[in-house]
Amino acid sequence: MSSYDSYQRDAEEAIRAAASLTQLEQVRVSWLGRKGILTTALRGIRELPEEERPDAGLKLQSIRSVIEQALEGRQQALKHVAIEEKVARERIDVTLPGRRLPPGAYHPTMRTLRRICAWFARYGFQEAQGPEVEDDYHNFEALNIPPLHPARAMHDTFYLSDGQLLRTHTSPVQIRAMAEHGAPIRIIAPGRVYRCDSDPTHSPMFHQVEGLCIEPGINMAHLKSVVTEFLQDFFEGREIEIRFRASYFPFTEPSAEVDVRHENSGWLEVMGCGMVHPNVLQSSDIDPLQHAGFAFGMGVERLAMLYYDIRDLRVMFANDLRFLSQFSGE
Ligand code: PHE
Repeated sequence: MSSYDSYQRDAEEAIRAAASLTQLEQVRVSWLGRKGILTTALRGIRELPEEERPDAGLKLQSIRSVIEQALEGRQQALKHVAIEEKVARERIDVTLPGRRLPPGAYHPTMRTLRRICAWFARYGFQEAQGPEVEDDYHNFEALNIPPLHPARAMHDTFYLSDGQLLRTHTSPVQIRAMAEHGAPIRIIAPGRVYRCDSDPTHSPMFHQVEGLCIEPGINMAHLKSVVTEFLQDFFEGREIEIRFRASYFPFTEPSAEVDVRHENSGWLEVMGCGMVHPNVLQSSDIDPLQHAGFAFGMGVERLAMLYYDIRDLRVMFANDLRFLSQFSGE
């Protein structure tokens, strides 16, 4: 019997000494678990002489409930302490300076593209879009480039397995816009184009902005003045020279390429342009006797490189943050 008394003391002491909920659980198991001291003692009652069993049973049960209460009490206390500690640990110091997020910025290509479109929007050119995966009809045929036409060889086309292709220029958007809206029409079409060509001055993907204006009475002088005004505004009054050089595109006649030279750089070709070929108007059901139009397609990376004085085309596509972060103020 006397050993039972020490049970209560020992258990209460162990419970008081438990410094964490885990330790307390260990104490509970060591006393009340399946192989715990008290459980074993309760099981041992069977072995006692018959007359001692009722007293021993009562005694042990009362010790058990004392231990259970002590466990419960200690558990509450420890939980409370744990919460207090957590609150103290996780306190937020609102006076600490915040973490700085580095500001994002538009890529120089995108900035240039947006500047171009914004300029033409002022003259009533509406933005138009077309798919980057095109078909032969829109990319070539309707632009007066029939199968076997030698101009196809200049395009370095990426063909897809289903006979479609990655558009080699934004000119197919001219065809789509004319089919949708007819004439008169003024559109500007920015986007990606693809050519199977890669070296220090050519990237297999680059950006163009296409322009198309069809109205009665439009002539080459309108084209020249719009392009010249645009380039002068684009370079914001810097000393530039502009040169229209006679050229050839199947979808324009006459055709020209436009070169720009600024400060001490050499001439750089920045766009192709011309008067929309009658065959192109006809393929879009527009009467060439009623309407005339001009079109142009400019290279966005080329204009960006001139504007920002970037010498190497590859940095435009490398996405190196040391390069890009120089544009973050813009
Ligand atoms: N599509 C031509 C090119 O990619 C440019 C161009 C557009 C020329 C419109 C004339 C008219 O080179």
